Amino acid sequence: MKLRIVMMCVLALGISNVVHAADEIVIKFSHVVALDTPKGKASELFAKRAAELTKGKVKVEVYPNSSLYKDKEEMEALQIGAVQMLAPSLAKFGPLGVKEFEVFDFPYIFDDTADLHKITQGPIGASLLAKLEAKGIKGLSFWDNGFKSFSANTPIKSPSDLKGKKMRIQSSKVLEEEMRSVGAIPQVMAFSEVYQALQTGVVDGTENPISNLYSQKMHEVQKYLTLTNHGYLGYAVIVNKKFWEGLPAEVRGQLEQAMKEATVYANKIAQEENDNALEGVKKSGKTTVYAPTKEERMAFKKAMAPVHTKMADRVGNDLLQSIYKETGFDPTKL
Ligand code: LMR
Repeated sequence: MKLRIVMMCVLALGISNVVHAADEIVIKFSHVVALDTPKGKASELFAKRAAELTKGKVKVEVYPNSSLYKDKEEMEALQIGAVQMLAPSLAKFGPLGVKEFEVFDFPYIFDDTADLHKITQGPIGASLLAKLEAKGIKGLSFWDNGFKSFSANTPIKSPSDLKGKKMRIQSSKVLEEEMRSVGAIPQVMAFSEVYQALQTGVVDGTENPISNLYSQKMHEVQKYLTLTNHGYLGYAVIVNKKFWEGLPAEVRGQLEQAMKEATVYANKIAQEENDNALEGVKKSGKTTVYAPTKEERMAFKKAMAPVHTKMADRVGNDLLQSIYKETGFDPTKL
């Protein structure tokens, strides 16, 4: 652990020297998913537009697929300045001490993307991003991925089908409770380790939007996929605050513009990427895809509804109620 931090510091010092020597601003942007995903593609577009708008003054180096850092390491790396930009999923901010982000993990809290955007593109989203400042992080934007589905090696048609199953989750206490609500055993694990864990049976199943499942080839080691859409997975694009505020104002403005464009693009392609991935899974013939009936969907909703009351304190009841007010969701009416 100590050695890793020391190495990151050495790397960070190295970077600032390079930046100075070349008179070029380098932004290392690390993420954990494949290029062929909403986040993968949006980060590439951001890099391209940043170079164009700053006329080559800024070079964004994108490191996809955990090639630079895994989930937990990348957060540490951002804080000490070894990387400048990340886009972790909203379920990964708890360990940083910003538990409020786990409100996005509440089962069925958003019916669809329109509901979601009321939050991510409105004042509640802005106030959530502002909470990161105390951690030395500046939140720039929210990027969509999509709604998660359950996969396993046995069919999943009702909540009881998940009973006793070891299910990989991201590092969120709300997701832990979600899995417990259906009798599953949650297992926190870095994204880069999920394929192997599924292949070797360390875990039985997982949950993710289809673009993540497909681009990591998880469908090759999961026989069943049920389109539960039971929870949301999206991202906050974040930068090291000191680095960001130290940029020349003109450059910062150009990067803000690039981020605006990348956000529009990410949110435009997210659904399409997930639809294409679903087609890919179906065509592979390796996974049986099941679309639950209205009644089956309701059974999942009811089983998971207690998560809302149990975890209200974790994210703050006021925040939770303000989201219900925007979206009209009421877990007590299920
Ligand atoms: C996961 O760990 O399942 C996701 O957060 C990966 C990602 O960044 O989409």
